[in-house]
Amino acid sequence: MTETPKKLYIKTYGCQMNVYDSERMAEALQGYEQVDSPEGADMILLNTCHIREKAAEKVYSELGRYKPLKAGNPDLKIGVAGCVAQAEGEEIMRRQPMVDLVVGPQSYHRLPELERQARAGGKALDTEFPEELKFDHLPRRPKPKRGPTAFLTVQEGCDKFCAFCVVPYTRGAEASRPVSRVLREAEGLVEQGVREITLLGQNVNAYHGEENGQSRGLASLIRRLAEIDGLERIRFTTSHPNDMDDDLIAAHGNCAKLMPYLHLPVQSGSDRILKRMNRGHTAEEYIRLIERIRAARPDILISGDFIVGFPEETEADFRATMELVEAVKYGQCFSFKYSSRPGTPAAERPLVDPEAADDRLQRLQALLTKQQREAQDAMVGREVGVLFERAGRMDGQMVGKSDHLHAVHVQTDLPAGTLARVLISESGPNSLGGVLV
Ligand code: SAH
Ligand code: SF4
Ligand code: F3S
Repeated sequence: MTETPKKLYIKTYGCQMNVYDSERMAEALQGYEQVDSPEGADMILLNTCHIREKAAEKVYSELGRYKPLKAGNPDLKIGVAGCVAQAEGEEIMRRQPMVDLVVGPQSYHRLPELERQARAGGKALDTEFPEELKFDHLPRRPKPKRGPTAFLTVQEGCDKFCAFCVVPYTRGAEASRPVSRVLREAEGLVEQGVREITLLGQNVNAYHGEENGQSRGLASLIRRLAEIDGLERIRFTTSHPNDMDDDLIAAHGNCAKLMPYLHLPVQSGSDRILKRMNRGHTAEEYIRLIERIRAARPDILISGDFIVGFPEETEADFRATMELVEAVKYGQCFSFKYSSRPGTPAAERPLVDPEAADDRLQRLQALLTKQQREAQDAMVGREVGVLFERAGRMDGQMVGKSDHLHAVHVQTDLPAGTLARVLISESGPNSLGGVLV
């Protein structure tokens, strides 16, 4: 007789690496099936993000919502995973007695054992940074049914120590998975119907995986992946400007499967602030880099991240950021108000006036939204590849992503997983419309 599977509810916050980790955690917890709501679950896992204060606070309010569930079902186990678990694990255990299990981002392979401890009535905590990467200790990826796109983490951690950022503390030192392991996982995904893989890392272009005793860069890994039949598209995120080497820039020009979209955060356009942030380059160097990338792949769409209101940022510093944005012309962008994070170097420095920071964020977002809209509108009349992912809201409609990562609606009876040529005919508020070529 087989046991009925227990129900697992996972709620994921933060970046794509957490999305990938949540999938791997669900796979590691054999004997559980994933459900879409916390009601009736036997185990709730929060996969958390520590990047800004607001993100971290969500954990405590979410846990509060589970109190009645726990009261109604003493067998319900509640776990906190991810970057808040790493940063504040012991404090969570202390402050929230309802939490049975805390697991840091590098310890997910120990989840089954921690779950057993928690089931046996104990408290389980693991926030170690083991010598070896967790991935190779996790079960092979089962899950027979997948969509046509997947994430694949190839690199973890960060050694850059930007003055504002918690990632080097929550994810640990930079480490890369060996080439053969990445290839094997990618081949498995493609066998399950995946057509597009996004390679992930906090600093993915610093990838330096081992192959036959030698170290390979990201461009080399991408070329190996491009040889896999059935894999049509490759993307990667997130990159640091200083790790954008010539080989990777060239790959954007000569590797057809590498998509024309690059997320390359700069954070500020002021050299004074870039220096205080410890970013390791100037605004001018960044702009020159973008020019070189565009020379290799003229239609590439650049996206970025910005922080406004970093300690000591003046109006003049902010204007330099606006000028950089005008010079680069982003296709998509994310901007955040600086959030002081305990334990980071910048946390010791005086904050800028919050009203000034709010005002700058609004001005920057207005400019970025305008650029985003212009980049999207400029697609009208062009022919692009679209990988259909799911049915659209209207009858007979499919939605997918273009090469440039725009959402595109098309009237078609082609199934999900089809990569089609589409002529873009209209540009709406959040997506494009097109017709099959
Ligand atoms: N590795 C990536 C960034 C990962 S964090 C890089 O180097 O660019 C994602 C984004 O969150 C960052 O690019 C930054 O814009 C933002 N961020 C990080 N720490 C922050 C903080 N303390 N306050 C506000 N935004 C922050
Ligand atoms: Fe954080 Fe990115 Fe800087 Fe690393 S490179 S410290 S992840 S912002
Ligand atoms: Fe957040 Fe951790 Fe990702 S802090 S952004 S979940 S690496």
